[in-house]
Amino acid sequence: MQSAQSEWMAMFLLLFVAVTMETGGAVPTEKRLCFRPWSPCYLKVIRCPKECPYTKPKHPNAKACYLNCYSPKCEAVCHGHKPCLSTSSGCHDPRFIGADGAVFYFRGRKDEHFSLVSDPNLQINSRFIGHRPAGRTHDFTWIQALGFMYGSHNFTVEAARVKQWDGNVDHLKFSYDGKPLLVPEGHLSDWKSPDKQLTLERTGTRNSIRVMLEGIVEAMLNVVPVTKEDDEIHNYQIPSDDSFAHFEVQFRFIGLSPQVEGVLGRTYRPDYVNTAKRGVPMPVVGGEDKYKTSSLLSADCKLCLFSPKEDNEIELHILRWR
Ligand SMILES: *[C@@H]1O[C@H](CO)[C@@H](O)[C@H](O)[C@H]1NC(C)=O
Repeated sequence: MQSAQSEWMAMFLLLFVAVTMETGGAVPTEKRLCFRPWSPCYLKVIRCPKECPYTKPKHPNAKACYLNCYSPKCEAVCHGHKPCLSTSSGCHDPRFIGADGAVFYFRGRKDEHFSLVSDPNLQINSRFIGHRPAGRTHDFTWIQALGFMYGSHNFTVEAARVKQWDGNVDHLKFSYDGKPLLVPEGHLSDWKSPDKQLTLERTGTRNSIRVMLEGIVEAMLNVVPVTKEDDEIHNYQIPSDDSFAHFEVQFRFIGLSPQVEGVLGRTYRPDYVNTAKRGVPMPVVGGEDKYKTSSLLSADCKLCLFSPKEDNEIELHILRWR
């Protein structure tokens, strides 16, 4: 009874946070409070936009100001964007939070593939979509697809390209071992691979999925469009015939090797040193040349470490980590 009660309590709190986060963005108000239980910022208050260091007063929406209660620093975030969720995540035009909690941009290039994680037993690649407004020197990019390789298997998940975003339509597309795969719409609808190693579970009726690779990685994915508001704030100038549906991603890794590579993976190395300039709000990190792969499911980047293995070999690996 006791434990059932505390579970409900946790669910209630989480729901409350979700609502706070959701409404926190659009309407600029005076005070922001962090309700996330166990956050170092729990119940901390900031005044908006006063305590928001990067406000661009010229744009009306730029006043949008949030308390980033996912960051140990509890700082105000004023870019008109909600922060990425916690560590090991990627979102927006893609900004990542590494294992050390530091935020960075990795721009990549539109219509190219980059390895997010490369380890002897796991490869996760991403396909970038993007847009380069006239006169700019780089693309604005977003993650449109992810490709997973592990053992002798592969799995892809994509956000379908659509002109106009409609939240009542599911935009998730999957494939397993080269064949298309359907996961019926509906909260908690799920699918398991024949060997039970891969589980997909919808975390919302549509456009949200949890990917679980037993003993290797768990990923929470949401498909979202680039909204009109994002476009205005960041001046992406995206064409009107593409909603740039993309992923917000959050990973939890289990047992990466100390040699792990990839845009996000390298932040998990014990010898990782964050080379981003200090004091810059959103440092850009490079590595495009080291992590570019020729497709969503290939491990041919310069620093890639993955090699396919037979199923019995990977099982041994998992046992070793347990
Ligand atoms: C994905 O797995 C299937 C089944 O093992 C294989 O036939 C296919 O070549 C793999 N795809 C890639 C791109 O490696």
